[in-house]
This record gives sequence, structure tokens and C-alpha cells, in this order.
Amino acid sequence: MKRLLRIDCSSRITGSHSRTLADYFEKEWKLRNPNGTLIYRDLAKQQLPHIQNNTIEGFYTPLEYMTPESKKATALSDELIKELKSADDILISSPLYNLNIPSNLKAYLDQVVRVGHTFNINEKGYYGLLEDKSAYLATAKGGQYKGTFMEEYDFQEPYLRAILEHMGIKVRGLFSLEGTSEANTLEQNKRDVQSNIDELFKKQNNESN
Ligand SMILES: Cc1cc2nc3c(=O)[nH]c(=O)nc-3n(C[C@H](O)[C@H](O)[C@H](O)COP(=O)(O)O)c2cc1C
Repeated sequence: MKRLLRIDCSSRITGSHSRTLADYFEKEWKLRNPNGTLIYRDLAKQQLPHIQNNTIEGFYTPLEYMTPESKKATALSDELIKELKSADDILISSPLYNLNIPSNLKAYLDQVVRVGHTFNINEKGYYGLLEDKSAYLATAKGGQYKGTFMEEYDFQEPYLRAILEHMGIKVRGLFSLEGTSEANTLEQNKRDVQSNIDELFKKQNNESN
């Protein structure tokens, strides 16, 4: 039985394009995985604290030297990592804020990207520990980036890809709705992104038949 961890972070609870896109993905995922379970995390409704000095100290303290204080400082990270590890598929919906991800999503990532837990280091460098997981990204941007001079200023998608891959998580689908502030092209763009999601599940169905 598959588990989907869905993470939303748009500050807009209603009228959010990235959340609507994630709703569409979730609906299709459930059709493909009728017995699957959903774990839901809303980073706008439940804000996570930024990591503090004692959190970082705890991250780098071997288990046998952990004090009650450092255990407390890393307890939220433990819980979030346990949740992340329990999932097979991860769906992250994210708006573009000031050319990057919202800070609530960064705060989440700072809690889960943790040495010895989600990545490790050997003589060759870093390697991810969550290689059995697949990620899907549903992003929304006010402007147009792909194929324009703005493309190099989109730090959201390259960053999300890089940090997930740093933990060994493969990004298997990127569904990007651009131009959410451009009324005349928005409806067509939405249909195009939804059909990309349809294609993904059609492909997965064909592969498993
Ligand atoms: C604080 C803030 C910063 C934004 N920065 C950008 C930006 O850098 N580039 C852009 O194209 N749109 C930007 N936008 C527009 C959003 O990306 C767009 O409204 C998107 O649809 C938001 O996602 P949502 O609909 O899921 O809330 C920004 C919006 C907000 C509220």
C-alpha cells in the first residue's frame, strides 16, 4: 500500500493555483492507488520554527552524547524525518515567491535535510539516503519563465530538484503553472499542466500493465 506525503506551502489557503494543481495530482494519484494513504502537511496553516543554534548542535552530536536539551531541540526534525521516510511518493506544491520557494518550505527543508538521517558523506562526497522515494512538484508563478530571459532567475525549481536529489529523492514529475497573473492565457495553461499530470499517470498505468 503506497503512501503519499503531500506538502502545501502557499500562504493563500483559498484561490491558490499551486494547491489546486496539487488537488488535481492527489485526485489522480488516488485513482491510481485506491488503497493508498495520504499524509498531509500544510506549512502555511502549521508554521514550523526555523532551526536554532541548539538544533544544529543536536544535528552534529553523536547519539550517545545527546543531552535532554539537544534531544528536545531535534525532536521536531526527528518527527518530520520519520514522516518523510514513511512516504513512498512526495508531492510538494509551491508558489514562486521572490524568485524562490516560500520561507515556510525552506524552514521545513532545513529540518529534514540532516546528516546521518537523510543524507550522508563519504570519501567521494555527499550521498542521499532516501533513494526509494519519488517526488512530484506542482509549482505556480505569476510570470512566464520557461523559454524567456527570466528562466535563469527561477531558483525555485532548480533548488527543489537539487535539494531533493541531495537526499536521494528522484523528481519524477514537474508540473509548473506559469503566468497565473496573465488572465488571457491562464485557463489554457491550466489545461496544459493538467494534461501533463494525466500523461504521467497514463504512462505509469501502461508501465505496470
Ligand atoms: C510574496 C510574493 C512574491 C512573489 N514573487 C513572484 C516572483 O518572483 N515571480 C513571479 O513570477 N511571481 C511572483 N509572485 C506571484 C506568485 O508566484 C503567483 O501569484 C502564484 O500564483 C502564487 O501561487 P499560489 O497561487 O499557489 O498562491 C509572488 C507572489 C507573492 C505573494
